[in-house]
Amino acid sequence: MSVTEEKTTPKWFKDAVVYQIYPRSFLDTNGDGIGDLNGITEKLDYLNDGTPNSLGIDAIWITPLYPSPQYDFGYDVMDYRGVDPQYGTMEDFDRLLREAHKRGIRIIMDMVPNHTSHLHPWFLESRSSKDNPKRDWYIWRPRPKGRKYPNNWLGIFGGRAWEWDNKTKEYYYHTSVPEQPDLNWRNPQVREAILSDMAFWLDKGVDGYRLDVINWTMKDKELKDNPHCIGRRPYDMQRHLYDKDQQEAVDVAKAMRELTDRYKDKILVGEVALDHSDPREAARYLGENGDGLHATFNFSFTYSRFGAERFKAEVSAWEEAVGKRGWPTYVLSNHDEIRHISRYAKGRWTIPRARVLAAMLLTLRGTPFLYYGEEIGMRNLWPKRSEILDPLGKRYWPFHPGRDGERTPMQWNGSKNAGFSTGEPWLRVHPNFRKINVDIQDKDPNSLLNLYRRLIWIRKENSALREGSYKEYPNSPTGIFSFFRQTHEQHLFTALNFTKERKSFTIDQANAGKAKIIFSEPEFGTKSLDAKGFEIPPYGILILEM
Ligand code: NOJ
Repeated sequence: MSVTEEKTTPKWFKDAVVYQIYPRSFLDTNGDGIGDLNGITEKLDYLNDGTPNSLGIDAIWITPLYPSPQYDFGYDVMDYRGVDPQYGTMEDFDRLLREAHKRGIRIIMDMVPNHTSHLHPWFLESRSSKDNPKRDWYIWRPRPKGRKYPNNWLGIFGGRAWEWDNKTKEYYYHTSVPEQPDLNWRNPQVREAILSDMAFWLDKGVDGYRLDVINWTMKDKELKDNPHCIGRRPYDMQRHLYDKDQQEAVDVAKAMRELTDRYKDKILVGEVALDHSDPREAARYLGENGDGLHATFNFSFTYSRFGAERFKAEVSAWEEAVGKRGWPTYVLSNHDEIRHISRYAKGRWTIPRARVLAAMLLTLRGTPFLYYGEEIGMRNLWPKRSEILDPLGKRYWPFHPGRDGERTPMQWNGSKNAGFSTGEPWLRVHPNFRKINVDIQDKDPNSLLNLYRRLIWIRKENSALREGSYKEYPNSPTGIFSFFRQTHEQHLFTALNFTKERKSFTIDQANAGKAKIIFSEPEFGTKSLDAKGFEIPPYGILILEM
């Protein structure tokens, strides 16, 4: 294989629609109230049975399934080579991988390189004494003279980022909760250990990794104080110049890329920032010559206000930042953010809004990531204070209710616990499950689920939607987001109405009058105002082939 070929993003990933599964909440097959790997295997046909009756997704990203004391629900890993008994066994995993591959579904694992659990054997050794060989695997500092803490860094989940260890009389550093000590990535042994744990799953045949907060892995060498700024939470009152986003973290990404390039067709997608990220910042992790990650998450929609002009601006910024060097990704919802249907809810327009958003996500240039349940329009739950399990919510309620609301059990049907479990679910099922569930939507041709299915299968059948270039159409009226997607063989045009008003517009293209409708909603057949003019109803969707 030539060097250039090696450095490109595997075609399957560019073509793919990825489905994120939070294993605790997908399907529980042993009645303990916690979702499991066998639950995922059982629902593979729902995800893709090779026909348009199924969702048609191409890959699953499973959030951490490793043994964990679950202080941060799996993002505190005790053993990167195991399966948490709550989720099943390694045999269950192997079966899931086999069954997924049989159906052409790839499996993307979640690697958490920045921190481990405080119960990981590496940390247990590291904290056992100052001269333990693994002491330097984590970031330990003595109490400085004349100052309480080694520096002013704060934990993202609240409080100081330094935890005092009474036994060895030093502080250790943790960006998240104290039960998640940060690894010291400046130590080459740490790098080796994580890379070899990553190789373990690649050898098994998994198809790649989502990399948790890859931009936190490197901190300023001298651990300099962050400067202050204006913000709401104490954490936001610092400019995080030194505790993350160091250029050396890009080298970490490159080392991981070197590892995956030893295999065929593996991908790396990085979570680059948790705050409002500058796309150029995220694009740095792709490497100057495409020698970094294959892609980074684009979370801009998760922060964006609803509206054509906003979404358009976010897409252009990403296209510009990663367009030539890399491959974009798009996300509306995930396990850290309020589900988008709830974020953008607007009375009777809530569903029409979710529909036009689905069309945007599935027609843009870049790999779309769906979050389990978004295809049926699962809403966020607003838990009572006594119900909160997420460390973020425990610390910041009511200012931040935490992330439990977007992690509730999947709503399969109208039976007890929405068909998720016969036991007591680990998190309360959303009370709307009798109205919003897979069973009902499966039978309703106009359901959101069936819209997702249609759009995903349309994407599969139209190469321009998967691989075509992206060009914004500049002459659409306010409230309409429209763009071209083009390959040598195919020229498509998408128009999305993000308002509750009917809009008319003209497509300024020679062959527009002969355009064929690939998809429209509400259905308006071949109706056009004149040769090149179209009318698009409130929250309407139009996909044309020119
Ligand atoms: C990002 C993950 O998405 C989030 O859920 C987790 O709490 C933090 N990283 C810490 O690992």
